[in-house]
Amino acid sequence: MDDLRLIFEYLMTPSSTIFIVGGLIVLLAPILVHFFIVHQTPYTSLPSIVLAGPPGAGKTALLTLLERGADRPVATHTSQTPQSVELTVSTDHKSGRPITTPYREAARDDAPGKHRKFLLIDTPGHGKLRAQALNHLFPGNGSGDAGAEKGAPNDRLRGVVFVVDAAALDDNLADAAAYLYEVLLALQRRTGAGRTSKTPNAVAVLVAANKADLFTALPASLVRGHLEAELGRIRQSRSKGLLDSGVGVDEVGAAEDQDVWLGQYGSDKFTFDQMREFDLEVDVVGGSILEAKVDKWWDWISSRI
Ligand code: GTP
Ligand code: MG
Repeated sequence: MDDLRLIFEYLMTPSSTIFIVGGLIVLLAPILVHFFIVHQTPYTSLPSIVLAGPPGAGKTALLTLLERGADRPVATHTSQTPQSVELTVSTDHKSGRPITTPYREAARDDAPGKHRKFLLIDTPGHGKLRAQALNHLFPGNGSGDAGAEKGAPNDRLRGVVFVVDAAALDDNLADAAAYLYEVLLALQRRTGAGRTSKTPNAVAVLVAANKADLFTALPASLVRGHLEAELGRIRQSRSKGLLDSGVGVDEVGAAEDQDVWLGQYGSDKFTFDQMREFDLEVDVVGGSILEAKVDKWWDWISSRI
């Protein structure tokens, strides 16, 4: 009992130690609480960009380059799990028109202009693991964001960067296009779903034609043409059953068919411009991660954040 009284007396007697300790508690407590909360709820409100595309295209290499700002990409290996990094874009409006700070300087605190943080999410390209990428377009279909409404569009998603190997597209065209078809169809349905409830945020797609440093690499215009042609073929074969069975475009079966039909319904040729009907902009831009020529992709990302 006496001990307790002594401690109490000591605490109540003004002394510099007590003031310092008390002051520290008052100052540090809110800071600790802040970090605790930030740690508990990571990235909840950050806009996100998803990297998708066939294996070996350079998704992980791109993420690493943008994260480290290095001049050379580091060696990567096939990804099996998604990974995400927090990056910063900054845009300088001083000179009248917006200028995006190069990715190497964007993360620096003294970079000019307005800073905006976003989440860049790398996903595995292997066929069996693609659901992880598609899950970011519609969380809650499998694993993914806890608490997200099942099958609801992801509100934070701003864009999808679909990386393809422009130097090996001839060999990989069928696989790359099949994957892109899934991505675009998921985004198209997302817009469709928004017609009945609230309109989802606009999402854009950038086809990043990577490995322009290799002499076999196709220019962006050819990558675009090849992909459009192959997507058209896929669309044709997927809907063949219905079209051949004599069910016309305006007849009853059309509703089901429209679910798997990418772009303008009933059109002969597929073009990326047809995705505009669903509020989807698709750009095809060349670049090389190896030579660190990714500024156009970075500008594209910046403009979506
Ligand atoms: P998965 O994880 O399997 O889906 O593949 P990924 O898309 O993450 O590919 P990754 O980033 O691992 O790159 C595959 C290979 O391509 C690596 O050996 C890279 O060094 C190489 N690579 C990436 N970008 C370029 C480029 O611009 N030019 C050249 N020549 N090689 C590149
Ligand atoms: Mg990877």
